[in-house]
Amino acid sequence: MKFLEDRSRVSIVKQIRLLWHFVLFAFPFPDTNGVVTRGCVTDACEPPSCISCEGEMCNSYLMCRQCDGSQAQCATSAVNETSYNALCTSATQVCKISLNGNGTLTRGCDNTECASGTDASCKSCKEDNCNAGIFPADRRQCYQCTGDACNTVTEAMLQPCTINERENQKCYTIGSDAKTMQRGCTTDANTKCAIDTTDGNCSLCSDANGCNKRPYSSILGPCIKCSNGDTCIPAQDKSKAENCAASVYTQTVNQCYFQLNSDGSVQRGCVNELANGTTCEEKNNCNICEGSACNIQEGIFSCLTCRSDNFAPCRQAHVGSLPCLDSSLNSNASMKCYSGEWSK
Ligand SMILES: *[C@@H]1O[C@H](CO)[C@@H](O)[C@H](O)[C@H]1NC(C)=O
Ligand SMILES: *[C@@H]1O[C@H](CO)[C@@H](O)[C@H](O)[C@H]1NC(C)=O
Ligand SMILES: *[C@@H]1O[C@H](CO)[C@@H](O)[C@H](O)[C@H]1NC(C)=O
Ligand SMILES: *[C@@H]1O[C@H](CO)[C@@H](O)[C@H](O)[C@H]1NC(C)=O
Ligand SMILES: *[C@@H]1O[C@H](CO)[C@@H](O)[C@H](O)[C@H]1NC(C)=O
Repeated sequence: MKFLEDRSRVSIVKQIRLLWHFVLFAFPFPDTNGVVTRGCVTDACEPPSCISCEGEMCNSYLMCRQCDGSQAQCATSAVNETSYNALCTSATQVCKISLNGNGTLTRGCDNTECASGTDASCKSCKEDNCNAGIFPADRRQCYQCTGDACNTVTEAMLQPCTINERENQKCYTIGSDAKTMQRGCTTDANTKCAIDTTDGNCSLCSDANGCNKRPYSSILGPCIKCSNGDTCIPAQDKSKAENCAASVYTQTVNQCYFQLNSDGSVQRGCVNELANGTTCEEKNNCNICEGSACNIQEGIFSCLTCRSDNFAPCRQAHVGSLPCLDSSLNSNASMKCYSGEWSK
């Protein structure tokens, strides 16, 4: 029994030795972190998760992500798939990423290292699959999706743009309802909204990675809403503001209004809740402000204020109004403006 055990051990050692000389392999686990395991081929070793090579110690060479500028996904996290793994062909090769002139990437094994520190468009490194990840690190990232699931975005949809541009690159959102949303980068080959689009249904943004995440319609914020003669005139308490109706993605900031009517009454509300056919215009003493509950200011009686001897348009009343210092909207007696002509 003991003899048999010894014999089988010897034959296994012999086999391993044979394999050592002819077939060695690298076995990257099929995980997206790029972990690589090495050893001798014993069982099946099938690409892309397992790559075998012939020659002593050939599996000591680096494993790198490999793709080029003709593959849009080379810039995205898709290169974490094991199908992008390549075993380098010599012990001196390093892993490399380079930014091509047209904004695409090339990744792979390379014989030369990048010039250290001077070339921002090149990165080389000496660990397995170290040339994965977003490059350059500040490459713009946008939500990229289309159709039904694209209304409410998920983290997986946030991807670096396939074409990198230093300037003039934005994220876009477009759609005609919650089921037909499309998002991406203005530089995409098949972009729905280029940087110079004039399509009013294109919403562009560049203030943050993943800024193009608004659903087709959503509530942007609250405004003070009132028209009651007594309580609507004084300055309002921000905390009493109420949410505005949902607005579509092309509106990006909450808009409130404050209107002073000619009878001294005041009206406040959300711009997107104005009755159909009604607009808020300065000539009607209506002012729009942007932000949460921004329409809290006190209602103050105002008059056109000017003199034609130092401002000619005064005669045609082509001037703006100014708040009267000693007037109150609560007293008809103090709500009076004047105009007159003296000494011609
Ligand atoms: C960008 O350039 C790379 C390398 O020069 C080339 O392989 C690729 O086809 C080009 N891609 C596009 C979209 O022009
Ligand atoms: C892909 O790999 C990079 C670099 O190892 C890592 O930072 C990133 O989180 C990975 N992404 C995914 C989606 O696994
Ligand atoms: C914008 O979208 C609306 C409806 O969502 C549609 O009626 C209109 O034609 C679109 N405008 C353009 C320029 O495509
Ligand atoms: C304006 O008209 C549209 C459609 O005609 C309607 O859905 C909406 O409720 C109206 N808005 C207001 C504030 O009356
Ligand atoms: C001011 O006068 C108008 C009509 O002359 C009246 O309807 C209104 O209630 C008065 N307002 C105040 C604050 O007295």
